[in-house]
Amino acid sequence: MKNIFIKNIKGLVQAGENLPNIVSGDGSDALHVIDDAFLALEEGSTVVAYGPMSDWEGIDDWRDLEVIDAEGCYVFPAFCDSHTHTVFAKTREEEFVDRIRGLSYEEIALKGGGILNSAEKLSHSSEEELYAQAKIRLEKMITYGTGAVEIKSGYGLSVESELKILRVIKRLKQSLPIEIKSTFLGAHAFPEEFKNNHEGYIELIINEMLPIIENEKLAEYIDVFCERNYFSVDEMRQILDAGKKHGLIPKVHVNQFSSMGGIIAAIEYDAISVDHLEELSADDIQALKGTKCMPTFLPGCSHFIDIPFGNARALIDNDIPFALASDFNPGSTPCFNMTQIWSLACIKMKLTPREAFNALTINSAYAMGLSKTHGKIRIGASAPIVLTHEIPSLEYIPYSFGENTIQRVFTKPLVQTCKDV
Ligand code: NIG
Ligand code: FE
Repeated sequence: MKNIFIKNIKGLVQAGENLPNIVSGDGSDALHVIDDAFLALEEGSTVVAYGPMSDWEGIDDWRDLEVIDAEGCYVFPAFCDSHTHTVFAKTREEEFVDRIRGLSYEEIALKGGGILNSAEKLSHSSEEELYAQAKIRLEKMITYGTGAVEIKSGYGLSVESELKILRVIKRLKQSLPIEIKSTFLGAHAFPEEFKNNHEGYIELIINEMLPIIENEKLAEYIDVFCERNYFSVDEMRQILDAGKKHGLIPKVHVNQFSSMGGIIAAIEYDAISVDHLEELSADDIQALKGTKCMPTFLPGCSHFIDIPFGNARALIDNDIPFALASDFNPGSTPCFNMTQIWSLACIKMKLTPREAFNALTINSAYAMGLSKTHGKIRIGASAPIVLTHEIPSLEYIPYSFGENTIQRVFTKPLVQTCKDV
């Protein structure tokens, strides 16, 4: 793998040895940018030197070196997408059309569409098919600037299919040049046959799925869709309690349609993040203050199914950090383009481009346990790094929504990432 020297960079963003692991409140808008900079990478993306061009002392060994003139271009740490459902069997355009004709996302789900629709489709797909499809999606995500991805199960809803998805994620970890984190979301919806027997399905999760997941090291996190018509707060507590006993860290879906106490409960179980938050009460905001839990907003979901956007400004006012992620999935968010998420966060959530950028990098790295390695550019780190096309400013990226502003993404060679969870 070649060594790379990038020179004349218009703005080198968030390169520094003492940058924070989390930003919040007044610090949310702070970005460290070195103008007219250089960056030297070894083995694809390992940072060996950076600084202003005036500090550059030349290169002794030009063998195996690719020199890139980045005049007019920005370089920044790749996005961390801390919430996705990337492994699924089929897209769901028919529900998209139903919603255009007037049905709501919740109404479609109650008719047997939604998550149950995806689970039905996935039950007919082989591990091989699911792997091949998800791999293509992840390769595209990388070209759009994403350098780490969390992937959930949750379209299985049976022992066999949930394990099938988690095994696919395990294989993806070994075959893509980015960090992938795995989340067990068996509690995504109650399957039809357990509609009136919630205890029965929860027992299946706890007694049948979790022991195998722990044994085969299939996941780092455990998720529950805590929402009306899905899992109650008490049901979530039971599942998180069992998940923790099997070594999994809670990371949950809460407050998408209603605020029903899920945030407070998730914090009690030491959740690393609480995600969605389209509905946020004053009590929820109080509960989040001073905790280690990263609230995570998913504006792509709000946009696509036409529900409120989360109130991130209220969190900034209360000095609470937050992350932004895509929620990429076939039902509520068929979009994995993080520059689109960046635009939506600015336009609809009234975040400045810099506040949103920090939420897509530093804070989302925290939300997937990657603060040490991702979210900023540091000597010795080898997280993926993005080079933009020529653009007038960093703010131009979310401003020019829909335009592809990403030129190239540098990643470490695959051989170094071949490892188990
Ligand atoms: O995060 N809300 C729960 N789960 C997914 C959507 C699932 C689906 O519609 O397939 C989400 O939006
Ligand atoms: Fe989700």
